[in-house]
Amino acid sequence: MTRPRVFVTRVIPEEGLDRILSLSEAEVWQGRTPPPYEVLAQKAAGVEGLVTLLTDRIDSDLMEAAGHSLRVISQMAVGFDNIDLSAATERGIPVGHTPGVLTETVADFTFALMMAAARRIVEGERYVREGKWVTWDPTLFMGQEVAGATLGLVGLGRIGQGVAQRASVFGMHVLYADPAADEVRAGQLGAERRELDELLAESDFVSLHVPLTDETSHLIGKRELGLMKSSATLINTARGPVIDPKALYEALKDGEIAYAALDVTDPEPIPMDDPLLTLNNCLIVPHIASSSRATRNRMAVMTAENLEAGLKGERLPHCANPEVYG
Ligand code: GLV
Repeated sequence: MTRPRVFVTRVIPEEGLDRILSLSEAEVWQGRTPPPYEVLAQKAAGVEGLVTLLTDRIDSDLMEAAGHSLRVISQMAVGFDNIDLSAATERGIPVGHTPGVLTETVADFTFALMMAAARRIVEGERYVREGKWVTWDPTLFMGQEVAGATLGLVGLGRIGQGVAQRASVFGMHVLYADPAADEVRAGQLGAERRELDELLAESDFVSLHVPLTDETSHLIGKRELGLMKSSATLINTARGPVIDPKALYEALKDGEIAYAALDVTDPEPIPMDDPLLTLNNCLIVPHIASSSRATRNRMAVMTAENLEAGLKGERLPHCANPEVYG
């Protein structure tokens, strides 16, 4: 029996990749960077399965290029804003993703970013390496207290809840803005509901946990940054375009807010001439919030499981467009 043809857009952790290779005739893109769109369209032609990453644009034209053989798209990420979900649904193609397994890992990382920003860890590290540490200094790198501070969570889904849990242990007062939140769960977490504007005005730390959609694109722009405290820190482990980067630069430069800690930028990677990189009060890391060895392995395995189910015509264990099943 011939095995189904699959294209995998990058080398993913072995535990998932080996499984994909055992169940299909898979071609794996070996480049360190994603296949260019046109190349991806050629590689996708005639495949039954596509394994994708958030760096691949999977739009309706791409699905058209793949053709009628395409039966499943399995993405190794929880987010899927790079995929035209309604085009997939229209074509009857289920899209797999990897929710749940990275919740604690990303919540940990959000906390790490918040603590690093509050206590100026990256600036301090740079200072030591630059040979500037000459003595214990009573006013050196005075940061912000986390205990007793107010944390505003924009989005109280799985990851937002994980951050709220950690925050309460650290003695923080937690607010959230999320019209779709489970209020009972929020109550259990001790998180208080606010409108977005109120949350921005009251919080010492604001952390973003919303998917990127038309509604959340540039959700945090000039007006919203203007509502925040001048001592506040903005943390983004969601998607870069949720923040208007030009407005963020101006706000950080003019002291409208104190600090930003970003795991995600717009665009990615951030160009080396981006003005945000000239600021000392902006900490940027390369989209690694889910990157613990265990979690990335689990994500890869889940990606293989979704692919396998799709190739067999079974319901995907983790499907981003369940409406495809009618
Ligand atoms: C990472 O950003 C993901 O969506 O999994």
